[in-house]
Amino acid sequence: MLRDWLKEADYTVVFTGAGMSTESGLPDFRSANRGLWKQKDPSQLASTEALNHNVEEFIAFYRERVLGVKEYGPHKGHEILAKWEKAGLIQSVITQNVDGFHQLAGSERVAELHGTLQKLHCETCGREYNSEKYVEDTFYCECGGVLRPSIVLFGESLPVDAFEFALQETEKADLFIVLGSSLTVTPANQFPILAKESGARLVIVNQDDTPLDRHADLVIQDRKIGELLLELDGEI
Ligand code: APR
Repeated sequence: MLRDWLKEADYTVVFTGAGMSTESGLPDFRSANRGLWKQKDPSQLASTEALNHNVEEFIAFYRERVLGVKEYGPHKGHEILAKWEKAGLIQSVITQNVDGFHQLAGSERVAELHGTLQKLHCETCGREYNSEKYVEDTFYCECGGVLRPSIVLFGESLPVDAFEFALQETEKADLFIVLGSSLTVTPANQFPILAKESGARLVIVNQDDTPLDRHADLVIQDRKIGELLLELDGEI
């Protein structure tokens, strides 16, 4: 059914979460027992509070995550989405992920709602750096300010450009496919609902239940995303 919907649709938008990158080797956040937030408290780490009052632990936590995105990379599923964009089968990707794997795989029309771990910026002067600095154990800007990943921390607002782009794409979609998200974090989890309200078919591919499953036209829980994309690519 999903294969036919993909072929029939005029404007397909793919919405990804951490489940898109687990097959690359990166942990997601909320999978039963193995998610990152099952082991650590996000509010103690992924927050402006931690950045301002617990900077050593903040840097240690994010250095580990930067090392992860430098060690691992996009898998076949990311590459298939990039190929489908070039072929005109999908029109864009809206991602909550900060690993940059969609762009590394070749996707061009990508809205990074939560920013990226591939870049750092100075908390004081705003200067931008490649996150390699964290790999090289450099955590402070020439101006003396703290270097932090260019991601959205809990308590911060989403980047306006990415949000606007995601909004435009969602409103144009007649097929909206969620890949690997628990759909529990606002405002990102509003996009699938907005797509549905704009008349799109909503597909949710996720190994756990999500609070939006009841709104979906199709829910696929028994397949890993990478395997499913590979199979679909072979049929299209
Ligand atoms: N195939 C299908 N589903 C998968 C796979 C896979 N290979 N691997 C994991 N999943 C599913 C899990 O069942 C889980 O429900 O992906 C979902 C990932 O959900 P979360 O870990 O909550 O990740 P996400 O929805 O992206 O989190 C949103 O929360 O902490 C913040 O900013 C962070 O962007 C993140 C946001």
